[in-house]
Amino acid sequence: MNFSDKLACYSAEFNGDLKSACEREFDKCRPEILSESIGYSLMLGGKRIRPVLAYAVGDMLGVERRKIINFAVAIEFIHTYSLIHDDLPEMDNDDFRRGKPANHKKFGTGNAVLAGDGLLNTAYLILLRECRNGEEYISAAEYICECAGVFGMIAGQSADLLHENDGNYNELVLNFIYENKTAKLLMAPVVVPAILGGGKYFAELKSFGKDLGYLFQLTDDILDVEGDFSVVGKSIGKDSKEGKYTAVNLFGLDGAKLYADILCGNCKKLLEGLPFNTEFLMQLVDYVRTRTK
Ligand code: IPE
Ligand code: IPE
Ligand code: MG
Ligand code: MG
Ligand code: MG
Repeated sequence: MNFSDKLACYSAEFNGDLKSACEREFDKCRPEILSESIGYSLMLGGKRIRPVLAYAVGDMLGVERRKIINFAVAIEFIHTYSLIHDDLPEMDNDDFRRGKPANHKKFGTGNAVLAGDGLLNTAYLILLRECRNGEEYISAAEYICECAGVFGMIAGQSADLLHENDGNYNELVLNFIYENKTAKLLMAPVVVPAILGGGKYFAELKSFGKDLGYLFQLTDDILDVEGDFSVVGKSIGKDSKEGKYTAVNLFGLDGAKLYADILCGNCKKLLEGLPFNTEFLMQLVDYVRTRTK
């Protein structure tokens, strides 16, 4: 199977798992607008890069899929909540997400806040249930909570807001924002299978997830300049308009691309050091570097 077929396969498999999880967790929510608004954002699509990473790293390490599914679902719930809140008028004020009106444009700001809250709470409920399965499940759940919380994605989003329109960019702040708002939620799906698999190559996989996370935000920032709205599915050109702290604003477009190439090389070097079949992940790195959406 070639890379894009394999990628499509992983993502289709996860979409099936997500659908079952949604039915289980949200179908009985009342008032119905709650399940409708949550389902709207979850099922809009999205690349599913985080769950794909969880499944692919799990396969590489020989960890059974059934151990990973609920963690992948929880991570995608947290990611989707972060997008709903990120688009709110008081945050990035974005009208489009995944090619459709942002959650608050369709359901109003109050319902969008609640849809995000509902996703986050349910993610934690799923993680809590997993903790019944044993010590390594507790460690995996704890790792996700750390990545998502006030020392993770929320800290990154807070810094992103704080430094809006700074105009005075430096690498230290950029790295703090990249690492927390984005890289942590890409480290989680790489590290969780490592924990569930007994912790072998934990440090290497964590570094891989971090570099891939930086690369992912870099290409997101590059797409904000060069992307095509009809492909990316979200507004283009907003980062410079809003004075966002991006690698493009710090290094210029060519500098950002150079940085992306360096990170791409770092990711591959880390994979080369692993005694597993890393072919799919190697190709995933190139996919992240050259993605158009
Ligand atoms: C967007 O994430 C937010 C960033 C961290 C850059 P994705 O690009 O993974 O969004 P979806 O899930 O594919 O919509
Ligand atoms: C957001 O970064 C990262 C999140 C935690 C949601 P961006 O603000 O650049 O993401 P997009 O471009 O809106 O998807
Ligand atoms: Mg943002
Ligand atoms: Mg945004
Ligand atoms: Mg962006």
